[in-house]
Amino acid sequence: MNIGILTGGGDCPGLNAVIRAIVKRGHQFGYDFTGIRDGWKGLVEPMTMKLTLDAVSGILPTGGTILGTSRTNPMKSEKDTGAVINNIKALGLDVVIAIGGDDTLGVATKLSAKGLKMIGVPKTIDNDLSGTDATFGFDTAVSIVTWALDRLHSTTESHHRVMVVEVMGRHAGWIAVHGGLAGGADIILIPEKPFDIDAVCKVVSARRQNGKNFSLVVAAEGAYPKEVSGIITKDKELDAFGHAKLGGIGEFLAKEIEERTGIESRHVVLGHLQRGGTPTAYDRILATRYGVAAIELVHAGKFGRMVALRGNDIIDVSLADATSKTRTVDPETYRIAEIFFG
Ligand code: F6P
Repeated sequence: MNIGILTGGGDCPGLNAVIRAIVKRGHQFGYDFTGIRDGWKGLVEPMTMKLTLDAVSGILPTGGTILGTSRTNPMKSEKDTGAVINNIKALGLDVVIAIGGDDTLGVATKLSAKGLKMIGVPKTIDNDLSGTDATFGFDTAVSIVTWALDRLHSTTESHHRVMVVEVMGRHAGWIAVHGGLAGGADIILIPEKPFDIDAVCKVVSARRQNGKNFSLVVAAEGAYPKEVSGIITKDKELDAFGHAKLGGIGEFLAKEIEERTGIESRHVVLGHLQRGGTPTAYDRILATRYGVAAIELVHAGKFGRMVALRGNDIIDVSLADATSKTRTVDPETYRIAEIFFG
C-alpha cells in the first residue's frame, strides 16, 4: 500500500513527530510512504518526496515540517480539484493522511465525500478544532507565551507601564487564556467576548490605586472592542480560504489605554515566534500518539476519520464532524482567568 502524507496550513511544532510516527509504525505493516510537498499544492502540481525510514530519522524534536506547507485551497477551482484527484491516481496513492487544521481537513472532508480515502490528524497552535480535546502545537505555543510574559513582567514593572501582548488566536482565545493564566496576566481579551475599552482602562487604573503600578494585558489577535465592528486586520487581502491577515489589536489597544488613562503603554506582538522551533514533550507525545493512531486507522480500513483526543484516550471521529465548527474557549476556563483580573 502506498500512503501519501501532507501537512497544510500554518506550520506547528510537532508536525515532524506525527510524520515520523506514521512512517515508523506503517513500516511495521510493510507500507510505502510518499511525502506530498507544501500541503494540497503538492497534489495540484504535483510535488512529492520519498518518505523512507531514513528520511524520518532524527526529526522528532524538530520544529516546522520536513514536507513544507502552504495555504493552497484546491477546492476553489474545479481545475485544481480535478488535478488533485488525477494526481492521487497517477501517483498510485491508496490513502492520503492530511495533517492540518480546519481548512486543510475541510479539503480532506470534501475529497472524502467524493470517494477518496482520507484520514485527518488535527493540528493547530490555536487549539480551535472541534471533535478533539486538544491539537498538538498548542502546548508549545502556550509555553512560549508564558516565557514571554515572565520576561515582560520585569521590564513592565520597572517602567510602571501597561504592556499589551498580542498573541495568536483568530476565532478562539485558547492561547490567550492559557498563556495569560500561566503568565499571570492582569487582563485577558479573547475573540469570544468583545470587550469595552473603558472597562479595560478602569481595571488598569484601579490596579494603580491598589498599589500595583504596572499591568500586563494579553489580547488574542482576533479580540476586538465592542465599539469597533469586527476584528482588526493588517490589510484587506484574503488568503485562499477567505481569511484576512489579522494583527493590530495590540498596537490599537496600547494607544487607546495611554490616551484614556495617561499611563505610558507599550505593545508586543509575539506572532510567529509562537509557532517556531522545537515542540514541548507534551506535544511530541500527543503528535506521536496521533501519528500511530492515524496509520492504525488505515490498517483497520477506516477512512473519512480524524484521530482525536477525548480525555486521555485517542479516538477517531468523522472528518465531517471535526470540521463543522470552531471550538471556542469554554466559559468555565475564562471564569477562572477573570478571577485574577485587576
Ligand atoms: O495557524 C493558525 C494561525 O496561527 C492563526 O492564529 C494566525 O492568524 C495565522 O496562523 C497566521 O498565519 P500566517 O501568517 O502564517 O498565514
